[in-house]
Amino acid sequence: MRVMVTGAGGQLARALIARAQPQARITALSSRDLDVSDAVAVSAAVRREKPEIIFNAAAYTTVDRAQTEADRAFAVNRDGPAALAAASREVGARLVHVSTDFVFDGLLGRPYRPEDEARPLGVYGASKLAGEEAVAAALPEALIVRTAWVYSPHGHNFVRTMLRIMATRGEARVVADQIGAPTSAANLADALWRLDAGGAQGVYHYTDAGVASWYDFAQAIAEEARGLNMLGAVHVQPITTADYPTPAPRPSFSVLDCTKTWDLLGAPAPHWRTALREVLAILHATAQSDRAARHEGPR
Ligand SMILES: NC(=O)c1ccc[n+]([C@@H]2O[C@H](COP(=O)([O-])OP(=O)(O)OC[C@H]3O[C@@H](n4cnc5c(N)ncnc54)[C@H](OP(=O)(O)O)[C@@H]3O)[C@@H](O)[C@H]2O)c1
Repeated sequence: MRVMVTGAGGQLARALIARAQPQARITALSSRDLDVSDAVAVSAAVRREKPEIIFNAAAYTTVDRAQTEADRAFAVNRDGPAALAAASREVGARLVHVSTDFVFDGLLGRPYRPEDEARPLGVYGASKLAGEEAVAAALPEALIVRTAWVYSPHGHNFVRTMLRIMATRGEARVVADQIGAPTSAANLADALWRLDAGGAQGVYHYTDAGVASWYDFAQAIAEEARGLNMLGAVHVQPITTADYPTPAPRPSFSVLDCTKTWDLLGAPAPHWRTALREVLAILHATAQSDRAARHEGPR
């Protein structure tokens, strides 16, 4: 099975590659190998590789910067998926595209179902919604999976940022009035592979199970990391969104209803805290082996 993965340096792409079945022959294209906003390059790459499946894990993901870089955000998050959908159609490839809880405004008061009306608050969310629409228009049979609060042992994410802040300052002030669902990139990648294998088409939601505020998530990171002796005592202080203004507004309640996904996969996702423990164990093991290698020194 020939598989193309875009955005190959990112959290999700790395997890998709790591969780692939052995029979998958993966062409992993980083932003340097393929700029998805370049439609000519996208078409050429897809015609050359003739993949059966394309996972689009490329995205402009800096939510706050998108407020002042709308052109770039839309080029990557709308025009990129549009070009990938058109190229998928040309070669008969299946397209798995990933989107975000930030397409919602957070005002609904219950978990969002795939068919609920999307109303993004910021440029990033608007550009991702435009990407979904472009994919659905060009390739209605494409699979579009919205997810949220993604983290992994690599790249830029809340877990790594919190560990750094907690280790250097011994405390963290974290927003307690935004509610979502932390999601391990590995679990998301597994779900994408399985949704594709199960023939899913259209819009689905995937997050790990359970809900949390950023404060709950930070508190769990502190507790679990302490249990692994990665941190000493840390004070995590809850604050409000008003205490921590950001350029991009964020939804206050963007929990995604994943029932449709869990029904297709035959089981609910693992709870986010279980997944967090797994990621922290990897980070801990990596830090220990780095320390051992430094201790050994050059041979
Ligand atoms: N992270 C989250 O919390 C979160 C939440 C909800 C949804 N999502 C969605 O989940 C998907 C995966 O996110 P992630 O967390 O894996 O993001 P990530 O770690 O930021 O990875 C995104 C990747 O896309 C690449 N990229 C950026 N511009 C590109 C371009 N023009 N052409 C090709 N590649 C480009 C980046 O490369 P460079 O680093 O070289 O620029 C990076 O490797 C995205 O669709 C994102 O919108 C993420």
